[in-house]
Amino acid sequence: MGQDAPPQTDPHVVVLFGATGDLAKRKLIPGLFYLSQHLLCPNMRIVATSLDDLDTEQFRTAAKEAVHSFGRKQLTPDEWAAFEKIVTYVPQGKGPGVLAEAVAEQQTELGPDTRLLHYLSVPPRAATIVVKTLEEAGLVKNARIIMEKPFGTDLASAVKLNAAIHEVFDESQIFRIDHFLGKEPAQNILAFRFANGLFEPIWNRNFIEHIQIDVPESLTLEGRAQFYEQTGAFKDMVVTHLFQILAFMAMEPPTELAPQAISIEKNKVFRSMKPLEPANVVRGQVRGYREEPGVSPESDTETFIALKAEIGNWRWAGVPFYLRTGKYLAAGQRIISIAFREPPSSMFPAGSGIGAHGPNHLTFDLADASKMSLSFYGKRPGPGMRLDKLSLQFAMQETDRVGDVLEAYERLILDAMHGDHTLFTTSEGIERLWEISQPLLDDPPPVRGYDAGSWGPNAIHQLIAPRAWRLPFERVWRAKK
Ligand code: BG6
Repeated sequence: MGQDAPPQTDPHVVVLFGATGDLAKRKLIPGLFYLSQHLLCPNMRIVATSLDDLDTEQFRTAAKEAVHSFGRKQLTPDEWAAFEKIVTYVPQGKGPGVLAEAVAEQQTELGPDTRLLHYLSVPPRAATIVVKTLEEAGLVKNARIIMEKPFGTDLASAVKLNAAIHEVFDESQIFRIDHFLGKEPAQNILAFRFANGLFEPIWNRNFIEHIQIDVPESLTLEGRAQFYEQTGAFKDMVVTHLFQILAFMAMEPPTELAPQAISIEKNKVFRSMKPLEPANVVRGQVRGYREEPGVSPESDTETFIALKAEIGNWRWAGVPFYLRTGKYLAAGQRIISIAFREPPSSMFPAGSGIGAHGPNHLTFDLADASKMSLSFYGKRPGPGMRLDKLSLQFAMQETDRVGDVLEAYERLILDAMHGDHTLFTTSEGIERLWEISQPLLDDPPPVRGYDAGSWGPNAIHQLIAPRAWRLPFERVWRAKK
């Protein structure tokens, strides 16, 4: 991880399972297109497969449509002609033998150093079937496998899933993807914390009062009712993305910028996390959800969740981490907000504005290109001593480097091709996260209603009181000049 120019990428056959699904269409096919066009993986072939009975021509048409709708830029006819040639399709129903032949054909064309990358963009219950298919097809040697979340649905199923995969692939071959860790700004948390001397000395309970990780989405079900009904906001977002981001915020400095060193520190955070208490959780369901197509009229699935997490170690004891995410909300945002402790006493009189806009905040925005801000009180110009809340802000968008930002999936697929596990999760970490989630899974609080376009049920204010949610922002980000 970390080089400006990535190492050379070996020739790869990417076997894409779930190739006609939503994620493949929105992210994976456009991402693979970008990696091949920008010479990050120039020697690539894609063998796409799914339960749909298509032929290669039909799939190529769908792939073109996907790149056209969701890619970063429109395709030129030459670009499309070059990409189209590297994509073939095999229906999964034809069995492991036919898949093996299709892969072998591509491997022969690319030469003896070719590696295999299996991308399992399939639901958890299909993952073990696909792993068996790969074993039967003899596609395990010289192969890596990317698995999509959720990794199980509780501790027992996660342990079972990990054991089933380990029967065929060893841990070094497995890449459990959490695309939030592939976001450029998430990696920037590591740079910010550990490449500077300024922040780390105050990154602890003595100076930090609480932390918010807030990822409201204005998105609705977007045709994913079947998936979402079984998953809900906690399993879809918290036990995966939000807890991974929490680990980047909370971990001790790793001994080196290397996968094992980073995993060790992240897993220590997960081990120090206290089991979630249902009394510290607000589950919400948007009004009208039960009438959506594909949703049960008695559904208890939460479309919203807010909770307090605690880390019982020396650095973080007594510092609450408030997490919130949900769908159908007022805005789509991804922020991490650190509230610092207030001065112990003040010479500024009441009415001067001191403390009127809350404590100092350090805010990370996980938008595609990083944004950060640090707010502080300063003097309002003119006579007397009135205080205003001011801020220092940085936005990658305003630099000429913004065009170099890789989309999260592009970054992570490329890392997996290089065998770099730094930004992937481990079975140990995932199992521990299910373990601390068990009290909530066993005894979930009832879902509370909230209106679409709001910030969630009213109970979220009691959860965080006497503090307040940062969103919606009182003062907006500075607009680009
Ligand atoms: C996915 C979830 O993993 O992350 C979706 O399944 C969610 O429900 C998405 O909308 C959010 O990702 P991003 O990158 O759009 O913030």
